[in-house]
Amino acid sequence: MTRPMKPSPSVFAHLSVDLDERSYPIVIGRHLLDHDEFARHIPGKRVAIVTNTIVAPLYLARLTAMLEAAGKQCLPIVLPDGEEAKNADNLMRIFTALLEHKCDRKTTLVALGGGVIGDMTGFAAATYMRGVPFVQVPTTLLAQVDSSVGGKTAINHPLGKNMIGAFYQPQAVLADTATLASLADRELSAGLAEVIKHGAIIDADFFRWQEQNMARLMARDDEALAHAIRRSCEIKADVVRQDEREGGLRAILNFGHTFGHAIEAGLGYGEWLHGEAVGCGMVMAADLSVRLGYLAPEDKARIVALVEAAGLPTVAPDLGEARWLELMEVDKKNEDGRIKFILLKPLGQATITGAPADALKATLAACTKA
Ligand code: NAD
Ligand code: GLY
Repeated sequence: MTRPMKPSPSVFAHLSVDLDERSYPIVIGRHLLDHDEFARHIPGKRVAIVTNTIVAPLYLARLTAMLEAAGKQCLPIVLPDGEEAKNADNLMRIFTALLEHKCDRKTTLVALGGGVIGDMTGFAAATYMRGVPFVQVPTTLLAQVDSSVGGKTAINHPLGKNMIGAFYQPQAVLADTATLASLADRELSAGLAEVIKHGAIIDADFFRWQEQNMARLMARDDEALAHAIRRSCEIKADVVRQDEREGGLRAILNFGHTFGHAIEAGLGYGEWLHGEAVGCGMVMAADLSVRLGYLAPEDKARIVALVEAAGLPTVAPDLGEARWLELMEVDKKNEDGRIKFILLKPLGQATITGAPADALKATLAACTKA
C-alpha cells in the first residue's frame, strides 16, 4: 500500500522572543505538524501532549506520529473543551495523568489547542515538580497571534478570570497555519480581535493594512493570515522583551480587556468568546478615550467599523452600572482599588490611566445601547 504524501511544510516566519537565557523561537508556517524536523524544537524524550476533545480528533494523531518519528514517547492528556473548563479540576487532571505515568522533570508538556489549553498547560508546566519544559502548538488564530507568545499562564477562579497563574515562558511556539482551516468562523473572528488590538495600540500602519485587508482575512486568505500572524507575533514579542512581567508597558496588551473581562465574567464564562468580549471592549475603551480627549471621534468610528468588519459585537450587554463597576474592580491592573484602563492616545499608541467616574458611566451608558 502506498502511504499518502505528506504536504511539504512552508515556513512563513521564524521569529524570536528575546529574553536572554529564556529566549525562544516562534515558527509560523503551513503543515509544520506533519514534519519531524520541527520536533527538534521540543526538548526531551518524553512528551505529554495536552489537548481537548475537539482538537484531539483533528490533530493529535498527526502530532503524535511526527513526534514518534523523531524518537519521542508521547502521553496524550485529553481534557473537556471550553473556557468553563479552564479551572482547577482540569489542572489537577493534568497533574494526575503526569503522576500516574511517572512523568519526571525532563518530560516536556506540549499544549495542542487554543488559548484555553495553552494557558492551562503552561500553568501545569510552571508548577509540576516546580517547573518542566513546555512548548506551545497553537491551533486557533487567537492563540497564534497572541496567547501562545509571552508566557502568561493561568486558570480562572469563579471570582475572576485568569486570577491564578504564573509567568512561565515556553521553549518554542510552533504555529501551523493549516490548522486554522477547521476553525469555526466565530473563532476566527475572535482571533481577529487581538490582531486589531495590536494595530490599535502600537502600529497605525498595521491598523490601516487591516482596514484594507479585513475581507481577505475573513475569507482566510493564506497570505493575509500569515502577514497578520507574523506582524502580531513581532509586536507581542517586542513588548514582552521590554517588559516580561508586566511592570508597566506590557499592560497595553490588555487594551479592551478591562471591559472585555467584565463582559465574560458578567455573562458567565463561555457565553461570549474571549475575543468577542475584547472586540466590544476595544469599542468601549475607544469611546472612553474620546470622552477624555485622547482620541479623535473619527478614529473611534474606524475602530467600530473594523471590529464590525471582523464579525465581532460592538454593542455591550447591559449588565447594569453597579455590576459593571463591581466586575471591573476585580482586575489585575488595578491599584489601590482604582480601575485602570488602557486608552488610545491617539490611534496607534496606548496609555495606561484611571478615568473620572462620570466619563466611565457615560461610556457604559453609551456602549450598552445600539
Ligand atoms: P479556545 O482555546 O477555547 O479555542 C476556541 C475553540 O476552538 C475551542 O472550542 C477549541 O476546542 C476549538 N479549536 C481549537 N483549535 C481548533 C482548530 N484548529 N479547529 C477547530 N476547532 C479548534 O479559545 P481561544 O480563543 O483560542 O483562547 C481564549 C483563551 O486564551 C482565553 O482563556 C483567554 O483568557 C486566553 N488568552 C491568553 C492570553 C495569554 O497571553 N496567555 C492572551 C489572550 C487570550
Ligand atoms: N494578552 C496580554 C498579555 O500577554 O500580556
